[in-house]
Amino acid sequence: ERAKAMGHVLSSARDVLYNSDEVSRRLRVMLQSAELNIDTAKKQNTFLVQHAAKTVPMPLHCLHMQLITDYHLRDGVIKEYFQAAALKDEEDKAKLEDRSLYHYAIFSDNVLAASVVVRSTVTNAKEPNKHVFHIVTDKLNFAAMKMWFISHSPRPATVHVENIDNFKWLNSSYCLVMRQLESARLKEFYFKAHDPSSLSDGTENLKYRNPKYLSMLNHLRFYMPEIHPKLDKILFLDDDVVVQKDLTPLWDVDLKGMVNGAVETCKESFHRFDTYLNFSHPKISENFDPRACGWAFGMNMFDLKEWKKRNITGIYHYWQNLNEDRKLWKLGTLPPGLITFYNLTHPLDHTWHVLGLGYDPAVDITEIENAAVVHYNGNYKPWLDLAVSKYKAYWSKYVDVDSSHIRHCYARA
Ligand SMILES: *[C@@H]1O[C@H](CO)[C@@H](O)[C@H](O)[C@H]1NC(C)=O
Ligand SMILES: *[C@@H]1O[C@H](CO)[C@@H](O)[C@H](O)[C@H]1NC(C)=O
Ligand SMILES: *[C@@H]1O[C@H](CO)[C@@H](O)[C@H](O)[C@H]1NC(C)=O
Ligand SMILES: *[C@@H]1O[C@H](CO)[C@@H](O)[C@H](O)[C@H]1NC(C)=O
Repeated sequence: ERAKAMGHVLSSARDVLYNSDEVSRRLRVMLQSAELNIDTAKKQNTFLVQHAAKTVPMPLHCLHMQLITDYHLRDGVIKEYFQAAALKDEEDKAKLEDRSLYHYAIFSDNVLAASVVVRSTVTNAKEPNKHVFHIVTDKLNFAAMKMWFISHSPRPATVHVENIDNFKWLNSSYCLVMRQLESARLKEFYFKAHDPSSLSDGTENLKYRNPKYLSMLNHLRFYMPEIHPKLDKILFLDDDVVVQKDLTPLWDVDLKGMVNGAVETCKESFHRFDTYLNFSHPKISENFDPRACGWAFGMNMFDLKEWKKRNITGIYHYWQNLNEDRKLWKLGTLPPGLITFYNLTHPLDHTWHVLGLGYDPAVDITEIENAAVVHYNGNYKPWLDLAVSKYKAYWSKYVDVDSSHIRHCYARA
């Protein structure tokens, strides 16, 4: 519309002998107002994408509701499931702490996402019976998560579902971030985002307006030895990844005494420490190199013996405490991760973990296809309508379409 109007002005200028100063002035005014409009539209777009990314899609909600209903009807129709499951749990108990097996840590409140992580890992495993998945979820999603893995067991692999509320050691006197999450100031910072008038805060702050930043599940990655006291090594997987290869060689990678095995993400100037941390703060500038390379959470091999030896949880608590006022970094787990595992991260080969499928439309397809793990980090999750369509199939091929629950909930969508 603006361009049309500008064309109109130009043609009038040709027809009627306009003063060229006048034409130029009017065009400048139009250009300015067009720029303002674009800016507002961009902010609105960011806000809406953010909003869509936070919304639970209807079929996913349906799936959770169905599973919860089944769970609470367990003494009725599906009693046999539970008897079989209880028996299996008993058999599996020893496996949960068996150091000769391959253990995974998954923290998730999304049944469909967790099911894809487990199914893709098991499908591509050479010896599925040696893989053990430890899923931690929250109170709200526990019944649905438990029910899914009872009724869709990835046998012969083992899945153990736990409720975060049952971790007695996880209380606000031990865990600072819990106290911070409960703090009124953080809630205000987050909740005022629901008001579109806060768009004036700019797009930079908007990206923190996601409930994941308020969820304790997201911070459990800093408590691996507390959750798994008997294990020596564990592979952490985010719930927005898909596994495309047998991952067992990862357990043989020599971490050279480091605690965290991860892929590095720095390219030229991006994703170095100064992208994430406030180097104007002396605590940061005195302790870290601004040019140090960032790395990614999402697929991390943790050596729990080294973790305990080096007091990783203590280091994490120390920095989280210093950041009470959010001056060192804003929100999220990557900045405290970079700090906590500084000098303690071993870089893994990039083919292990390819990132960006949740925001970057230009990820190399060959890289995706050769990757052991692909990661939909960003807002465009594969279970949302927002998903980048060319990346969707890598994920959806592991959705269990034979499941009657999935058929029921997704047929209507
Ligand atoms: C809180 O956790 C700590 C350490 O994890 C534990 O020693 C303490 O007993 C817990 N407190 C409560 C009230 O459960
Ligand atoms: C671990 O770190 C915490 C916090 O910095 C500290 O209080 C504690 O004494 C440390 N423990 C050991 C064994 O070094
Ligand atoms: C960074 O740290 C400096 C020094 O403490 C502080 O004045 C400034 O507000 C911090 N920046 C942000 C964005 O928090
Ligand atoms: C990290 O390693 C560098 C080089 O080895 C060393 O100078 C620095 O003190 C270490 N920093 C921390 C926080 O351990």
